[in-house]
Amino acid sequence: MRNSRIAGVGHYVPERVVSNKDLEKLMDTSDEWIRERTGIVERRYFQEGIDTTSNMGAQAARKAIKAAGIEASDLDMIVFATLSPDYFFPGSGVLLQRELGIKEIPALDIRNQCSGFVYALSIADQFIKTGMYNHVLVVGSEIHSSGLDFSTRGRGVSVIFGDGAGAVVLSPSESNDKGILSTHLHADGEFAEELAVLDPGSNKNARLTHEMLDSESIYPQMNGNLVFKHAVSRFPEVIQEALQKNGYQASDIDMLVPHQANLRITSYIQQKMGLPADKVMSNIHKYGNTTAASVPIALSEAVEEGRIKDGDLVCLAAFGSGFTWASALIRW
Ligand code: UT7
Repeated sequence: MRNSRIAGVGHYVPERVVSNKDLEKLMDTSDEWIRERTGIVERRYFQEGIDTTSNMGAQAARKAIKAAGIEASDLDMIVFATLSPDYFFPGSGVLLQRELGIKEIPALDIRNQCSGFVYALSIADQFIKTGMYNHVLVVGSEIHSSGLDFSTRGRGVSVIFGDGAGAVVLSPSESNDKGILSTHLHADGEFAEELAVLDPGSNKNARLTHEMLDSESIYPQMNGNLVFKHAVSRFPEVIQEALQKNGYQASDIDMLVPHQANLRITSYIQQKMGLPADKVMSNIHKYGNTTAASVPIALSEAVEEGRIKDGDLVCLAAFGSGFTWASALIRW
């Protein structure tokens, strides 16, 4: 079995910048509260008619494909992670495939929320390991801003989310000491409704009713404190699992790229793992929580800023709705 490696990475964020001060005009919140509780200063929101989940994914994908030194026509498969697809169905993977003009290769959609990108990466890795495919495009893209409750009722959730996209191209590694060393995926459906959008859904006679439009059920509902508690235990656990599997310790990590859920969660993980701040990627102040897009955007920026070098040990980790959590250990 051969390893896969990240041959190219890229990201795209919409142009429109929305600051905490902008949100103060819509709901009872404050720049101070948002910064202190989350570390977020601003986020990006899509513009209707310009950005879609699939075309933002395609923009990120074009950069990743270029960085990998291949053509879109060399791709063998697309794995697209999102909780905010363009349509209820079909998934955004086929729309991205159409946008890139690469007909007939398979396009798979992954619905694992904040862990979606790491799940998608793991799936792509298996296809390369078995020799079935050579180049797999893995995308995480989200538009949250069209589905948030911007009244004071929704302030506990709406202030944290932002829009954006990131992508990587996975290709075979020249050596088994390099590339993705292992991936670790977990879920616990016991907590499914603790962070969820319940409507519209297929479990009611009418998927969408006038009553729903006035209720909270069409917006993300989050038991923030409970999610926070689970996040701070699952993140270190799944990072340790990846390290142990490969005979490493936390001090061997050159760059940890966690899902950007909350700066307080990231700081807690950093302290728990005993890592210096410069070995933990954080860009939540600029983009907020972009769910499936957050790990590839952070990874792309870390590479762009020269913070990941050839031979570095890189760990990706995520936790979110489901609950789901996951990690990947990579020798760059
Ligand atoms: O992406 C993966 C999954 N998501 C996460 O990992 C997120 C995990 N959870 C969190 O990050 C935090 O729970 C939040 C940032 C969402 C909330 O922070 P918190 O410190 O847990 O605040 P809280 O929900 O306990 O609320 C504290 C107070 C409440 O007021 P009272 O009851 O103390 O008077 C809230 O009503 O803050 C109030 N509050 C706000 N105030 C101003 C909640 N949201 C806001 C807001 N602006 N946006």
